[in-house]
Amino acid sequence: MPLISHRAGALSGEGRVPGDKSISHRALIIGSVAVGETSIRGLLGGEDVLRTAAAMRALGAGVTFEDHGEAGGGVWRVVGRGVGGLVEPAAVLDMGNSGTAARLLMGLAAAHPFSSVFTGDTSLSERPMERIMDPLRLMGAAFTARSGGRLPITVLGAADPVPIDYELPMASAQVKSAVLLAGLNTPGRTRVAEPRPTRDHSELMLRHFGAEVAVESLDDGGRAITLTGQPEIFGRDVVVPGDISSAAFPLVAALLVPGSDIMLTGVGVNPLRSGLLETLQEMGAAITVAEGPGEAGEPVADLRVEAGPLRGVEVPPERAPSMIDEYPVLAVAAACAEGPTRMTGLSELRVKESDRLGAMARGLAACGVKIEETADSLTVHGTGRPPAGDAMIAADLDHRIAMAFLVLGMISADPVGVDDGGPIATSFPGFVPFMNGLGAALAEGS
Ligand code: S3P
Repeated sequence: MPLISHRAGALSGEGRVPGDKSISHRALIIGSVAVGETSIRGLLGGEDVLRTAAAMRALGAGVTFEDHGEAGGGVWRVVGRGVGGLVEPAAVLDMGNSGTAARLLMGLAAAHPFSSVFTGDTSLSERPMERIMDPLRLMGAAFTARSGGRLPITVLGAADPVPIDYELPMASAQVKSAVLLAGLNTPGRTRVAEPRPTRDHSELMLRHFGAEVAVESLDDGGRAITLTGQPEIFGRDVVVPGDISSAAFPLVAALLVPGSDIMLTGVGVNPLRSGLLETLQEMGAAITVAEGPGEAGEPVADLRVEAGPLRGVEVPPERAPSMIDEYPVLAVAAACAEGPTRMTGLSELRVKESDRLGAMARGLAACGVKIEETADSLTVHGTGRPPAGDAMIAADLDHRIAMAFLVLGMISADPVGVDDGGPIATSFPGFVPFMNGLGAALAEGS
């Protein structure tokens, strides 16, 4: 489904982006291994999370949705089976486009005494899975994978999993969470050390359900998380905040389109996810963060965003984990800022839903932006004026590449199109009407 973005007039109004994808996956997964019923409000109804819901059903949990219509949203109810109580799925678990669903659920399955088969779409089937299989093997699980450690993968879960003390070779919340979820059904203490703090939604959600999770700061700037295995955890009420990684698109659009002034309500502002706000504020952005009461340890805020000129900055590599999904849209902001923006420490971007570093570099160049790309960095030379545009971008089955270039089309001299807007539904269903409601001019193309 091609989409075209035409130059927009000033954006205005208020909106609430869909629920946080990372927190939504975790609420369904942890609710499924709690005792009793969990209710979840604000869950993202995107394709990635629906894959997790379907997988949890296949693993024996009761997962249902009560639709309360437009006004009331809806409530998801999960009837959990208790820690260790999942059952062998009768069919292959298809994780679609979702790396989080695949990696977290393979971790969970690794500490259950059954076999399960995981598959995914062509993007997910190219993504590296050795990074989770390495620690899970140490815990007693075995795997058969396609060459290069890719999906489809069969997980032979450990009957008697053993706890490990594991040092993550890369800063990845998915790998950390896979090990912690395996540790849930493992006797004793499972410890994971990460080189830099990554999103801590698993830790916060596990605690919310009653598990014992200890966090230490390490001398090298990292963190270690210790989970006490085989806890009895109980169903809870969960309210999922809006996804800052989705809010990032209307937010950057409002900064760039002259005269814009919008409000994004109920956005999750966990400090381990908020690196984009810090970076944009350093670039001179007018973003007012009004924090309200949080949800289960997750801070939530209303964000007011007003358009204004931006200047190029240096984005330090240690900030990458706190804004890892936001580099595509930051690169768009940088293309309109005055002066170069240099982003380093980006090697992980090469193994996301697409090679995001390559996709941004190619797409920006096609829109007339001067860039320099290395193996793990991107420098965008903004001129302070909108780029030319007039390009059709290959989205490479990547929702965030598609949304980033549609934002660029809102300010470029000529329209920008993306060849396939379909993947946007994985994380931001309703993106087109949401943006058009604020004043964008997005339309189906041909
Ligand atoms: C996620 C972690 C990040 C992020 C992804 C969601 C999570 O991936 O890019 O969109 O929910 O744990 P990595 O762990 O691969 O960095």
